Amino acid sequence: MSELHHLRPVRPSDHRTAGGTGFLGRQRARRAQREYEASILTFASAVKGEFRAACEGLHICHYVSVAAGLTVRTPRVGEVRPGPPLSFTVELLPGQEPGDFTAKENGPRLAHSLGGHGLRVEPIAGRWVRLVVLAHDPLADGFGLPSLTVAAGAESVVLGRTEGGITLGHAITDPAHLAVQGQNGSGKSAFCYGLLSQLVAAPDVLIAGSDITGLLLGRAFDDTAHRPHQVVGTSDLGAHAVLLEDLVAEMDRRLEHLPPRQDKIEPTTATPTVLVVLEEVPGLLRAADGLPKPKRGDGIPVGDRIRTAILRLLSEGRKAAFRVLMLAQRFEATAVGGGYARDQFALRLSFRVPADSLAMLHGDDARRLGQEHANADPGIAYLSGLGRDCERIRVPYLGDYGEYVDRVQRSGRRAPR
Ligand SMILES: Nc1ncnc2c1ncn2[C@@H]1O[C@H](COP(=O)(O)OP(=O)(O)OP(=O)(O)O)[C@@H](O)[C@H]1O
Ligand SMILES: [Mg+2]
Repeated sequence: MSELHHLRPVRPSDHRTAGGTGFLGRQRARRAQREYEASILTFASAVKGEFRAACEGLHICHYVSVAAGLTVRTPRVGEVRPGPPLSFTVELLPGQEPGDFTAKENGPRLAHSLGGHGLRVEPIAGRWVRLVVLAHDPLADGFGLPSLTVAAGAESVVLGRTEGGITLGHAITDPAHLAVQGQNGSGKSAFCYGLLSQLVAAPDVLIAGSDITGLLLGRAFDDTAHRPHQVVGTSDLGAHAVLLEDLVAEMDRRLEHLPPRQDKIEPTTATPTVLVVLEEVPGLLRAADGLPKPKRGDGIPVGDRIRTAILRLLSEGRKAAFRVLMLAQRFEATAVGGGYARDQFALRLSFRVPADSLAMLHGDDARRLGQEHANADPGIAYLSGLGRDCERIRVPYLGDYGEYVDRVQRSGRRAPR
């Protein structure tokens, strides 16, 4: 444990109530106040010392050559607030950016030196930032998803919450396909329950897709306008290929009839954003590839038809208001229709996975995050995209499966009669 814990100042109000109201009590209160002020100064100076040492250790400093040799300049600490949470202001050195304190592994390491778990950086003004030392894993507590639906695809749905407490949103109309990977029971499907439940009511969004498990799509959507565009189960794998090919045909039709002076479809209720949900794609492809191959000249194998359709939706769908949401335990190229298919996802989310899977989807920089993430709780994921660096988030949780079904049934948009 850091030395700082022992030095943390104790508020004098605790003493005053114990001291009574008479002359002696007032004396005691004054002394307590003086001691408190002194302890704040001691504490602040200890924080500055620990911070300076940590910055040196992590090379968040400048080396200045002077006559007597090399001296180290670290960012200057201004006001210290004991908190909790402990926070202090820091003046950036020339050439430094606020993100330098959290880049690479700096954030947790700085925080650990200061007796905390994580670090949040809040820009203040000019060259000053405030560093907040978070006392515990800010993602340890789950957060529930209220029963909310967006009124249009252009409105943001809640994706998750960052370690810094920022709620991240994403509009399905933003031109990004979504990749979601994670081991068994890591929370992929539960995340998608949350996502789809927020979109079911929007009149300009259509939730289509293929789901061999029949839980994410299918029965939950009975009687909604989305259900006819979904195929579930494994009893008729050809039907999955037919559905995906129909979606490709609709995409082609939209691209062919793009209005003049427009390079993409603006979604409306007549031409909604089509969210193509592909649950458990590797399983679907495995099952389709296991079917008896058609005789030569007797058509294309179902697995190949599915791969081709998915690839076309991924590569050409964005302009035609098609968005793909693909789920897999692991985004291995061969399991999800090739490396080119995998490269099409602008938004990538990894629930608990081994380090090599994390690097596969988020790039080699993410490998160093792998060890800890290999044991992540359900609902904790790394997210890349939205113009932000790869970061750890907690996704919202709407509750058990029954709640998902209820929300879809309650709010799911109905087909016009
Ligand atoms: N955000 C969350 N917060 C808390 N618990 C969660 C969260 N997400 C999932 N869980 C718990 O983890 C369990 C497994 O989640 P889920 O079924 O989504 O996993 P999965 O990744 O889809 O697994 P599989 O690969 O087996 O389909 C859920 O039943 C639930 O109890
Ligand atoms: Mg699942």
